[in-house]
Amino acid sequence: MVRKDMSIFVTGGAGFIGSQFIRDRVAQNPDELVINFDALTYAGNLENLESVANLPNYRLVKGDICDEQAVLAAMPDDCGAVVNFAAESHVDRSILSAKEFVKTNVLGTQTLLNIARHKRVGRFLHISTDEVGGSMEPNQWFTEDMPLNPSSPYAASKTAAEHMVRAAAHTFGMDVLITRTSNNYGPYQFPEKLLPLAISNAMQGKPIPVYGDGLQERDWIHVADNTRALMLVLSKGRPGETYHIGGKNPLRNLDVLKVLLQITGQPESLLTHVTDRLGHDRRYAVDCSKTHRELGWQPEISFEEGLRSTIAWYQDHAEWVERAKSGEYKTYYERMYSGR
Ligand code: NAD
Ligand code: TYD
Repeated sequence: MVRKDMSIFVTGGAGFIGSQFIRDRVAQNPDELVINFDALTYAGNLENLESVANLPNYRLVKGDICDEQAVLAAMPDDCGAVVNFAAESHVDRSILSAKEFVKTNVLGTQTLLNIARHKRVGRFLHISTDEVGGSMEPNQWFTEDMPLNPSSPYAASKTAAEHMVRAAAHTFGMDVLITRTSNNYGPYQFPEKLLPLAISNAMQGKPIPVYGDGLQERDWIHVADNTRALMLVLSKGRPGETYHIGGKNPLRNLDVLKVLLQITGQPESLLTHVTDRLGHDRRYAVDCSKTHRELGWQPEISFEEGLRSTIAWYQDHAEWVERAKSGEYKTYYERMYSGR
């Protein structure tokens, strides 16, 4: 029996990480109503939620987190928690134009905070990124208490959002939590980010663009390890705290791509160096020992194991990739369900 008084308001749940969170949450908490509030931008794909779409404890509301009236109407009073995934999330797009990033990531987060406070929401979990710390030195690890030093317009907008979340806790006593996650990978990731792009290109024998020298380091975490940490932070995190979630294993882009080509059986000649990203951060590496110490969490999926299963998923879901790349995913879902 779904209890309306037990509800959780998730934003951006049709995206990559949000949809993994919702699939997990809906399965694990059959009594709780999960409301997915999503504007369905280019990054929102309802195919990601096909497995929960008709379950009684899941509800989709199409809406923009910057739209106060829409959020007011959709967020239940006294709901257990808001989990804010909604964001513009791709660094390259923020370099081309930062306006949408400021709008959604900063103004949207503030709009949610205002309404959550008035509706007396239990907890507010804000999903942030390791990129707010800026580029780390070799062997340096980003800890929760280090100063923020964002480099890209994307990271700057996520940093501003974090400040608004902490300000709401300090000023109004809201129960907020922030998580900073490293680079996620796994099923249902939109093929503009490095791994899904490289996997789909490798599957078709197409060149894989390597920005600059390819020696930049990223700390990869499987999305299921991340959402497991998010569940723990939500239930056991201390109010006002920030928790880092990472794979504890920073790798150079070129090394990652070489393993990927080995698994897919494609030649390294597919790697094609292209002009570097402007202001490209060299290294991200999050220290997640606080999350381990306080919540008993650590990543369980090794990079090679996770990469193998992710590649297998993309190989088994070639049509999902095609629809995501062609734009057909926007109408596919409606066509598929209009007959029901
Ligand atoms: P995504 O781009 O795959 O999905 C974003 C979702 O937000 C989409 O469903 C989109 O429709 C929705 N959305 C965008 N603007 C909206 C708005 N104004 N109102 C309502 N919904 C809106 O993103 P993701 O990769 O799943 O990332 C989720 C969160 O995690 C983001 O906040 C991102 O900054 C953060 N993060 C991501 C990574 C990563 O590796 N992907 C790493 C660290 C942190
Ligand atoms: P990306 O997946 O965009 O994540 P982020 O910028 O948030 O870390 O990129 C991961 C790394 O891969 C980053 O160093 C940029 C690089 N990259 C490429 O070399 N080629 C590509 O085509 C893309 C999309 C990224």
